[in-house]
Amino acid sequence: MEAFRWVGFDFDCYCEVVNSCCFYSYYSDICVGSIACRLEKKENGSVRVYIMTLGVLAPYRELGIGSRLLNHVLDLCSKQNITEIYLHVQTNNDDAINFYKKFGFEITETIQNYYASITPPDCYVLTKYIQTHTKK
Ligand SMILES: CC(C)(COP(=O)(O)OP(=O)(O)OC[C@H]1O[C@@H](n2cnc3c(N)ncnc32)[C@H](O)[C@@H]1OP(=O)(O)O)[C@@H](O)C(=O)NCCC(=O)NCCS
Repeated sequence: MEAFRWVGFDFDCYCEVVNSCCFYSYYSDICVGSIACRLEKKENGSVRVYIMTLGVLAPYRELGIGSRLLNHVLDLCSKQNITEIYLHVQTNNDDAINFYKKFGFEITETIQNYYASITPPDCYVLTKYIQTHTKK
């Protein structure tokens, strides 16, 4: 994967402006994967990250690209003391559910009729609580 390179914005330089960021994986000149997330402020004032999309083009799956994209965001969270990251996934998307479970995500909620135009319309909320690098 020597042709692999990153294009993206850091939370620091981008999220302050629009509260969201996207990272792309390129193989040669082909964009083969991306992850998009946003920062959300909770009622108690703490910040969490929501993964809006994560996808890798089918011929490039199971090569570690999805892991690298997700790990990049998890590292950013950890460095910035963000302890919670979550996403919605369709209940029949076993590949994605198993993928996220490998990273320590757990099903924390089931929402009926979350999607308007796909079947099944139900989703799981997958959440991971992250250890941060806070110095004592
Ligand atoms: C989920 C997705 C992003 C994973 O990306 P990927 O680049 O294939 O993932 P990786 O190659 O990093 O795989 C990481 C691990 O998951 C496993 N894995 C990934 N897809 C798998 C599959 N379809 N079946 C079995 N195992 C799978 C890999 O074997 C690997 O395991 P290992 O660490 O033990 O070797 C990709 O399948 C995808 O784009 N799916 C369609 C979009 C989607 O459903 N997105 C998630 C909802 S937001």
